[in-house]
Amino acid sequence: MTPIRLGVNVDHVATLRNARGGSHPDPLAAARLALANGADSITIHLREDRRHIRDADCHAMREALTAPINLEMAATAEMQAIATALRPHACCLVPERRAELTTEGGLDAAGQAEALAPVVAALNGAGIRVSLFLDPDLRQLEAAARLGARAVELHTGTFCEAAPGVARNRELARLVAAARQVASLGMECHAGHGLDYDTAPLLAAVPEVVELNIGHFLMGQALFEGLPAAVAQMRRVMEEARR
Ligand code: PXP
Repeated sequence: MTPIRLGVNVDHVATLRNARGGSHPDPLAAARLALANGADSITIHLREDRRHIRDADCHAMREALTAPINLEMAATAEMQAIATALRPHACCLVPERRAELTTEGGLDAAGQAEALAPVVAALNGAGIRVSLFLDPDLRQLEAAARLGARAVELHTGTFCEAAPGVARNRELARLVAAARQVASLGMECHAGHGLDYDTAPLLAAVPEVVELNIGHFLMGQALFEGLPAAVAQMRRVMEEARR
């Protein structure tokens, strides 16, 4: 099986830092620690309102890290300009609503194809790997392929929130079918949102899924066991499930 990659999202470190307006805790320091303990890449979401990660964080990470950076962003002209100047390894296009607590639901790639097409083309042209954050819905996956996305990140929020048992298994089956579809359309399949030690292994066991992006659970868990231990444990449960 293709190895599974772990992307660690450090947005919440910036949220904590911003709560006091100073420079501690530093998301770059957290990124370094995550990379030293089993992360393959670092994910940051530069939101329109800059509620956590700021422009300066993006530049600092780009300068200091050699590991791949995955920049999550809305498909706006402002973000396109920032991404093409920054040139991260990857960009994940996500829907963004100001009032939301976190990214709620996938992008409407089918309905918004006209608006997304120039952004995907510009990022592709800059040599940035583009992924679209989508619900496991065939119509959306086909739209991503038509748009020229190199990857799809499946939204795992509904799956993670479903009660273990019948409801969760039903959501897992949808994700597995979608992962196969993504691969058969010639794109890489990633997954993320709400994953923890119980749910991440279920996705890591799906051969078509090659990358998981995880933030909230790891940062919460870091309060109790420390970030190095939390990242290392996540890596361990993913690898075990992959075998
Ligand atoms: N992937 C995407 C596209 C996201 O928007 C998020 C949340 O920022 C994540 C992964 C990580 O989700 P969580 O913080 O719940 O692990």
